[in-house]
Order: sequence, then structure tokens, then C-alpha cells
Amino acid sequence: MNYRHAFHAGNFADCMKHALVLWLLSAMQKKPGGVFVLDTHAGLGRYDLSGPEASRTGEWQRGIARLASPPLELAEYVGLVDELGLYPGSPWLLRARLRDQDRMACCELHPEDHAVLRRLFGRDDKVAVHLRDAWEALGGLLPPKTEKRALVLIDPPFEATDEFAQLARGIKLALSRMPNAVIAAWYPIKHRAPPRQFHQALKDAGVRDVVTAELLLRAPLDAARLNGCGLLVVNPPYGFDIAADGILAALLGRLSDGEDGAGAVVERIAGE
Ligand SMILES: C[S@@+](CC[C@H](N)C(=O)[O-])C[C@H]1O[C@@H](n2cnc3c(N)ncnc32)[C@H](O)[C@@H]1O
Repeated sequence: MNYRHAFHAGNFADCMKHALVLWLLSAMQKKPGGVFVLDTHAGLGRYDLSGPEASRTGEWQRGIARLASPPLELAEYVGLVDELGLYPGSPWLLRARLRDQDRMACCELHPEDHAVLRRLFGRDDKVAVHLRDAWEALGGLLPPKTEKRALVLIDPPFEATDEFAQLARGIKLALSRMPNAVIAAWYPIKHRAPPRQFHQALKDAGVRDVVTAELLLRAPLDAARLNGCGLLVVNPPYGFDIAADGILAALLGRLSDGEDGAGAVVERIAGE
């Protein structure tokens, strides 16, 4: 486990994932019933962007730093980031929007990051922090005991060569345990082929109701670079396609340097 999110916090991929996941949670909260949020790869929870790791890469300068005075589509996300002070990772961001009836579980397998996350949430009785393997937890923590609805964020580090296949297996496992779970799975786009094979694997497995949102900073031709990223959503709440279109267009306007092949696409890849 070499991946440390502190080097990448606040980059364009983080902004995309967090803005979309926040929209998903708010959409689910239009109904009064409680939502169980499962963050399978949680990280540290929040990050000091002036610290040594973030400063070493400077990735956030080309991400969250460009979203000041945001357009309407990003206002809720950026407003929450500003309100929280230290830059929030997914657990801290989502925790800030939990209602009384909602609950969250976070898994983090890196012992040091887990310890930091556990300290961050302290005695918060809405958040359970587990030192637990994400892929195992998808089977173990779903379905939740009390809530009838769940939002599952799967955000692997993509260190292993078979991470796309693992991601597809994880989604299938989660759906076998809870068919109505809203699942948001993040993936990198370096080359075109691996994400396309991942989409096809889910379609071949019969997974229904799937929308993908992809943001490209440049054509995905150089496999050594993170040229773009995607969020694949299973069982998206009503209106996700339109909202995601607006969010991605707004992000592209701020984050793209106009390189060839930059763009944003929201696509339904499997019908309901
Ligand atoms: C991309 S980061 C997560 C960032 C976080 N979701 C956010 O948006 O702020 C991936 C995290 O997953 C952790 N991790 C890697 N493999 C894991 C596994 N099998 N189970 C749980 N956590 C894992 C890594 O230590 C790392 O902190």
C-alpha cells in the first residue's frame, strides 16, 4: 500500500468525484428515510494543502484552487469546502451533510491513515471507522441493519494492475447484497481501453441502470498520465444525468487548459 492521498488531495479528480457524490447524497436526501453512506476507501478525512505532501506535487493548484467564486453548478460543493476550513476528503465532506437519520461507515486499510481518521471522528456516533478491507466490507456492511437506502462510494487507489476487474467484482458483490444501493465508483482514464472494458464487464454481468460521467483534461493517449477520470453510478437518483452534465461542464471551464481532446461526457451505458 504505497498510495497516499495526501499527495493528490484537491486535484481535478478529487473535485469531480466530490462534487458529483455530494449531489448524489443531496438527491437521496429529498426523501425523509435515512441514508447509510459507505465510504470504502476513505483516506485521511481531511488534508492540509499547505503541508509537505500536497506542496510537493502542487496538484491542488490545478484543482480546487481554480474553483474560487464558482459558477452555480459548483456552488454547493465549493461552499462546503470553504466552510469546512481544512480541505475535506470524502468522509469529512459527506459527514458534514448527514442528517439526524443518516449514518456513515468508513473503511481505510492503511494503519496510519486509519488511525488519523479514527481520531478525526472521535466519538461521533454517526460515523463508524473501520480498519477493514474495502472489498470484504462491501459484502460485510451491506445491506445496513436499519436504513433501507445506501450510498456507496468506491474510490480505490488503482495501484494494482487488476483494479478495474476488482472494481467490477466489488460492484457486483454490493448489488448482490443490496440491489437498490446507489453506487458511485471512481476510475482513472489514462488510456481509453481499460475503462471501456470495465463498462463492458458490468454490462455483460447484467448490471442495469448505469450512468458514467467522465472528465478529460486531454485525449487519453499517454498511459503514464492521469488524462481524465470517471465516476460510474449504478441506480442514480432521478436527474443525475442533467446535473452531472452541468457540474462537468462547469469543472471543465475552470480546470481545462484547452489541450486537445479535453471534454466532458455523461452517458447512460445500461438502461433501467
Ligand atoms: C484514493 S484514496 C481515497 C480518497 C478518499 N475517498 C477521498 O475522496 O477523500 C484511496 C484510499 O484507499 C486506501 N486503501 C487502499 N486499498 C484499500 C483496501 N483494500 N481497503 C480499504 N482501503 C484501502 C488507501 O490507503 C487510500 O487512503
